[in-house]
Amino acid sequence: MNITNLGTKAHVSFFVATELYRHMLRHPQGRLGLATGGTMVDMYANLVDLLSKNQLDVSGIHTFNLDEYVGLSADHPESYYTYMHDVLFNQYPKFTESFLHIPNGEASDVAQEAKRYERVLNEKGPVDIQILGIGQNGHIGFNEPGTPFDSETHCVNLTESTIEANSRYFDNKSNVPRQAISMGLQSIMKAKRIILVAVGTSKKEAMTRLMTGEITTDLPASILHQHPNVEVFVDDEAMPY
Ligand code: PGA
Repeated sequence: MNITNLGTKAHVSFFVATELYRHMLRHPQGRLGLATGGTMVDMYANLVDLLSKNQLDVSGIHTFNLDEYVGLSADHPESYYTYMHDVLFNQYPKFTESFLHIPNGEASDVAQEAKRYERVLNEKGPVDIQILGIGQNGHIGFNEPGTPFDSETHCVNLTESTIEANSRYFDNKSNVPRQAISMGLQSIMKAKRIILVAVGTSKKEAMTRLMTGEITTDLPASILHQHPNVEVFVDDEAMPY
């Protein structure tokens, strides 16, 4: 696993957007694994800009999102379905809606929905490039510390630190969902290539722990050391000590 400090969040956002753009350019039937969160907003803005300026045909691209909150309707302002449509799919409305895969947080049987999602990943995948953020506690997707490395898509109980970190998007903390459906660590590891992105001082500690190289379920992102094709991009603030 190598790490590159690109200096600023703006540089990281532009660089990662360019990687995704160039992949779609070369692979019109490509499979992208997408992430949500504050880190990714500017990256998607850059991607929309590149797609729009070049009018790329993305109708054959499949996208797979990492996770979705349980209990939020797709049209809830804080659902990841809404996030993805706000930052990318509605901004560049040339994707094929049925190729945009996001777990259904409103499914009546959440365990069945998780199984269905893993099946879709296996049937339509593998993902060519998986984009990942990282939580302050080292989570990837919503795979919190302690998640088994062999986990597939599953229902997750969010930890207090994740609820706290995500409460900034909700009116108050009590409105943050307590559960999510997330690709598991094994599901993520099936991607051919992984790009992990971390910006800001709040990620410095997790990045420092990650780059020690120790592999432990206490730091879910550390499973990535076992993947042959992972690159990490950070800004000055998230660069490990
Ligand atoms: P953030 O989330 O980009 O909002 O910091 C990243 C994550 O929790 O994976």
